[in-house]
Amino acid sequence: MDAGTDVESLLAPGRTLRPSRGPVVSALPAGDEGARYDRRAATYDRLIGSRLYNRLAWGTSPSQYTAFAAEAVAAGSGPLLDAGSGTATFTAAAYRETGRPLVLIDRSVDMLERATGRLADAPAAFVQADLLDLPFSPGQFSTVACFGVLHVLDDAPAALAALRDQLAAGGQLFASMLVADRAAGRAYLNALHRAGEVAQPRRAEHLADAAQYVFGARVDIRRTGSMAWLRAGHQP
Ligand SMILES: C[S@@+](CC[C@H](N)C(=O)[O-])C[C@H]1O[C@@H](n2cnc3c(N)ncnc32)[C@H](O)[C@@H]1O
Repeated sequence: MDAGTDVESLLAPGRTLRPSRGPVVSALPAGDEGARYDRRAATYDRLIGSRLYNRLAWGTSPSQYTAFAAEAVAAGSGPLLDAGSGTATFTAAAYRETGRPLVLIDRSVDMLERATGRLADAPAAFVQADLLDLPFSPGQFSTVACFGVLHVLDDAPAALAALRDQLAAGGQLFASMLVADRAAGRAYLNALHRAGEVAQPRRAEHLADAAQYVFGARVDIRRTGSMAWLRAGHQP
């Protein structure tokens, strides 16, 4: 699947894509440049890839992020949507090895551009889009991934519902989210919230409740340090 060809076949009626930067296409309305991360994309990569940062700030390790991404990739064989893909720091290894069609979306073209560099030979399309207003017809992805994004969104249930709608029958959502269960992480999340970087911090049980409500079924949720890991699917 490459940008501008197969990804077009996933579009909902009336939705279009326009060229953006390099292989990135945009589903945002002309004039909406999305989120600008010109310098932050590089800084983000350095910080989030650091074992020390993740251990001290969140009680996690980058290897847990890559393992969860590999789990999502191994969970099916049809198209995979990565909503809020960022720079693909933790997903690139699994994405490069899979033959699954991949669609990476993010509001930031700077983040996506870095992802294109990591996934030059992968079967991937790169679409600047808002996950709350996805341009695709519902029910076309066997796996939807959303790693480290829900804690930046004010309305997590709305985001979960938008992602659920993209799942094909039998498909699964894999989502991770920073949560306020652990004292050290809670203090840092509260500081980031005051700085306008993340939404009001929530606990893992809030994510579980929201996902259970949205999916109408029991969901699988676990937590390591300040990171909650969610797997959820359509009710059979
Ligand atoms: C903390 S980063 C996580 C990136 C990546 N998934 C990872 O695990 O490294 C959050 C990403 O979500 C994107 N994002 C935030 N709100 C979004 C939205 N409404 N629609 C699409 N992307 C969004 C940001 O641009 C950013 O790249």
